[in-house]
Amino acid sequence: MNLFDVLLNSGVAERPSDFLIFLGRIHPLVVHLPIGFLLLATLVELVVRKPKFRPLKNYTHYLWGLGSISAFVAVLFGYFLSLSGDYNENTLFWHKWLGIAVFLFSLVCYFVYKKQWKLPFYGRPILISLVVFTIFYTGHLGGNLTHGSTYLLEYAPNVVRNLAGMPDKAVPREKVTVLDSADVYLDLISPIMDRRCVSCHNDDKKKGDLDLTSYANLALGGENGEVVVPGDPNTSDLYRRITLPETHDDFMPTEGKPPLSDDEVAIISWWIQKNVPAEGYFTEMGPDEKMRDLVEKYLGLDKNNLLSQQVEVPNKAVVDSLLSYGFILNQLMMDNHFLEANFSLSEQELNDQALKTLFGLKDQIIWLNLSNSGIKNTHLEQVGQLENLIKLNLGSNTISDDGLAHLSQLQNLESINLYKTGVSDGLVWLIPKLPNLKRLYLSESKVDSATVAQLRKEYPDLKIVFEEKP
Ligand code: HEC
Repeated sequence: MNLFDVLLNSGVAERPSDFLIFLGRIHPLVVHLPIGFLLLATLVELVVRKPKFRPLKNYTHYLWGLGSISAFVAVLFGYFLSLSGDYNENTLFWHKWLGIAVFLFSLVCYFVYKKQWKLPFYGRPILISLVVFTIFYTGHLGGNLTHGSTYLLEYAPNVVRNLAGMPDKAVPREKVTVLDSADVYLDLISPIMDRRCVSCHNDDKKKGDLDLTSYANLALGGENGEVVVPGDPNTSDLYRRITLPETHDDFMPTEGKPPLSDDEVAIISWWIQKNVPAEGYFTEMGPDEKMRDLVEKYLGLDKNNLLSQQVEVPNKAVVDSLLSYGFILNQLMMDNHFLEANFSLSEQELNDQALKTLFGLKDQIIWLNLSNSGIKNTHLEQVGQLENLIKLNLGSNTISDDGLAHLSQLQNLESINLYKTGVSDGLVWLIPKLPNLKRLYLSESKVDSATVAQLRKEYPDLKIVFEEKP
């Protein structure tokens, strides 16, 4: 195989070779060279009028020369890039020809300044202005090709947008607060597409000739026709592509972008089964219990979601007295009053009174760190009343299975640390009572490896950290 083959043939018809694509992808980097050289040349042409800089006059053609050569390379690589992508044809046409114009104008500048040609009527300033104008306009169109034509002015004030013939900024759709008001396309399907697909499937960059920015465009389909078949996910190309193995060539999204979550896939599948409605309330389309729950959770509306509730400002007297007992309190969120209470750094003894006081903040405290605090089994009765706890650290304390029995009410608990404690088989009883538990720390406890193996088998989603004592 000779070099020419390597460059031009990929073996696959109609697809440029990998090497050309590789060069093409350097285009966005290379384009900055002519911009730099040519703007510098312009600047130097301006300043050589001053006596101080006059000696530079005889060298400016070098800058024009460099600018022109690099513009040629940028045009060439840009051409390679255009072979590989589906770009908006109209924008691409003008971007390409203006790029060639930059090259030609700068080449003319090179000869004019090298040979010191005389130009009639303001010839030189006009020529230089043309170079500068074409550089900026080519760059602008290039930006549109990669980011979409709305990118530059997306966040511009409406006055500026209107000047450019664009409508006012879209008012974002209000967040759904009750499931009954969720629109099937606007609140479920469209946000998924916006987040995961439209960066490649929009009006300017229509990969596979598919535009996913609106229902109407989605319905138009892509280069292979319709992408969703009403009522039949399994023959819908869109569904097929999001459910393929991630390594498959056809998998969407491509280029290693994060795949859709299982919930998102389930929502899209359901939507196709329901004949791809363009609008209408989700709850009025007869979703079954499972689907309702899934969507409710997906939209963050589930009532059980502790963190979506607003809690009150903590009582100042309670806070002060906890601080005096040696607790450190941290607010965990900017817009809510959930707290972390930490006793692990205190030098005082933890006593009953302090734990009783803690109860005064039972709505607010979601993280509690009592590691190495001298806490005993009997104290856990009070800890077990703090029903909003999500994270509980009881490590390095002399507690045992008897104490654990008090924790079964902690229905929000996601993480419990029992490092260096005396707990053992009591866990087998506790864990099924904690439906949200995701992490369990057991190193250097009295639990044996057989019990851990059993738990791991029974609760595959529970992450257990367990290292036996050496
Ligand atoms: C990183 C860019 C990129 C992203 C993100 C992306 N796609 Fe694509 N998509 C492509 C390319 C490139 C093609 C054309 C090549 C092909 O057919 O595999 C394509 C083609 C398709 C096609 C086939 C169109 C046809 O008729 O041939 C479908 C359907 C599709 N994409 C769906 C999606 C969906 C759904 C998402 C979001 C989950 C998505 N894509 C995200 C790049 C992307």
